[in-house]
Amino acid sequence: MLKDKNILLGVTGGIAAYKSPALVSALRKEGANVKVVMTPSACEFITPLTMQTMSNNPVHVETFNQLSNMDVEHISLAKWADIIVVAPATANTIAKFANGICDNLLTTVLMASRSKIIFAPAMNTYMLKSDANIKNMETLKERGVKILATASDILACNDIGEGKMLEPLEILEEIDEALTQKDLSGKRFLITAGPTVESIDPVRYISNHSSGKMGYALAKMAKYRGAEVTLISGPTNIKPPKTDKFVSVTSTQDMFEAVKNNFSDCDVLIKAAAPADFRPKVRAEEKIKKDKDAPNSIELEGNIDIAKYFGEIKDKQIMVGFAAESIDEIKYGMAKLKKKNLDMIVVNNIKAQGAGFKSDTNIASIIDREGNIDYLKKMDKKDLANIILNRVKNLF
Ligand SMILES: Cc1cc2nc3c(=O)[nH]c(=O)nc-3n(C[C@H](O)[C@H](O)[C@H](O)COP(=O)(O)O)c2cc1C
Repeated sequence: MLKDKNILLGVTGGIAAYKSPALVSALRKEGANVKVVMTPSACEFITPLTMQTMSNNPVHVETFNQLSNMDVEHISLAKWADIIVVAPATANTIAKFANGICDNLLTTVLMASRSKIIFAPAMNTYMLKSDANIKNMETLKERGVKILATASDILACNDIGEGKMLEPLEILEEIDEALTQKDLSGKRFLITAGPTVESIDPVRYISNHSSGKMGYALAKMAKYRGAEVTLISGPTNIKPPKTDKFVSVTSTQDMFEAVKNNFSDCDVLIKAAAPADFRPKVRAEEKIKKDKDAPNSIELEGNIDIAKYFGEIKDKQIMVGFAAESIDEIKYGMAKLKKKNLDMIVVNNIKAQGAGFKSDTNIASIIDREGNIDYLKKMDKKDLANIILNRVKNLF
């Protein structure tokens, strides 16, 4: 959660500085307070005025300014920050910080800081892979600085390879993760997400409208909070979050096998997927031709009920289910909770505005084993994920 967090952004003299204003904008949209320190070289690439406008705060460049108040600037900035993020981080600034050199305001603030520090390197591939830079990055990692990966692409210098700075939203996620309290560490979560797909023939299938957003939000937040996360996902159109293990599946039977392979090791199973309840009894080996052999109907058979199966054999595991209904969601949710031996169920009416499959928000109610119902207001799926995880934590 970045809201009200104090983020000090250090900008150094690399071409990727053109992305720094977008990072500030994204952080402020999340409710963070942002102050910016630029190296003199950074000012050759973008102007302090841009960063001042984006951050809505004065930008700091000079070490030896006349004091505008009686604070010593490098100390007060270091104390203000919950986290310092250097993006882009040049080879030069990485080398200076690794060796304790404080010859500009940013390197001096870094030395004076006791907060978390993230570096987002950006440089030519050969610079990145040079012995000196690798050693400097290792030194910083050993001291607890988080050094982000770089992407591989055609670089500004036309070389192809690693060294491209991560995109602003990817950096934002790293900051969010670094600032999240690790209250689920030591716990193993198995989370299912998305729809499953049942083939009719090699071209056609039956499925449902599940987007995977709720399951992905749960996996992301559980990981942020320090849990070891395995995410099992049916086909989706969204990027999976960073987890310890990601298993991609297609059919409900595949999803069942994947859960079975990972179930005994987990402390919590959250079934946020919408596995198809039915599959065609016969899957045509070749495409069914519409003129010749088009069927009037497709005979279906039931798929295995994954939640029920694991509810019956569960031992120490906490099991959370989901129910997406179009009417009487509380009544159906309560019945599902009992029938599948769940510890908790999250129900929502997919017809309500701002709830359901493709939406970024949800309007859910949580029912526990005792039948207590918590009616929640409309909220972001990420916030709902945190509420569900808090409830799970209380059951440990
Ligand atoms: C056009 C141009 C692009 C540069 N891009 C990078 C870069 O992406 N990464 C890097 O480490 N250095 C880059 N440099 C070199 C740095 O600007 C130089 O090492 C400078 O001393 C860095 O100062 P600073 O770390 O104090 O900001 C570039 C230089 C120029 C002229």
